[in-house]
Amino acid sequence: MKAVVVYESLWGNTAAIARAIAEGLGPGARALSTAEATSEAIADADLIVAGAPVHTLSLPTDKSREWARTGNLGPGGAPPDLSHPKMRTWLAGLPQGRGRSASFDTRVKAWYGRGAAPKILKELKRAGYRPIARARGFFVSGHPLKPTTDGTLREGEIERARLWGAELARAMG
Ligand SMILES: Cc1cc2nc3c(=O)[nH]c(=O)nc-3n(C[C@H](O)[C@H](O)[C@H](O)COP(=O)(O)O)c2cc1C
Repeated sequence: MKAVVVYESLWGNTAAIARAIAEGLGPGARALSTAEATSEAIADADLIVAGAPVHTLSLPTDKSREWARTGNLGPGGAPPDLSHPKMRTWLAGLPQGRGRSASFDTRVKAWYGRGAAPKILKELKRAGYRPIARARGFFVSGHPLKPTTDGTLREGEIERARLWGAELARAMG
């Protein structure tokens, strides 16, 4: 089975979850940023799992990424990694395929809203990748009213991601 886990990640939380999901999926799976996941890299994928951080209740936009860049919002004021495209852009350019799909996002647990993962799954489906699981959220620490000033994964989330990857592998058969 060819499985690819694609991520957008400004401060590494979504990337860390993506790597853990790939580990759970098994030796053939790779975690790739939206820059690395070129059409060639994902060609003939049996499973695409894609994830992004929740920004203002949804997928990151140019505006929210700019806000992240200028607002010193990272842990300790660390600058965000904006070197890879937005998940929105990557999804818009995704060629039609025939594999299966799953999606996830990272977010502050206390925040409400549907987040980014359901939107990702809808786009993967539109590109021909049929969902194999429900959209999944993984959680970072942070103040509910200031979700952007902190940003480390909550305890146990890496393990939860690994287990979900293994679950997806089983569902693929
Ligand atoms: C501009 C901005 C807006 C955010 N909006 C939300 C939000 O609406 N809901 C939420 O739960 N978290 C929100 N967050 C927190 C991020 O989802 C969280 O820090 C995420 O895990 C960061 O992932 P990354 O390290 O992969 O970039 C926001 C973060 C930023 C920078």
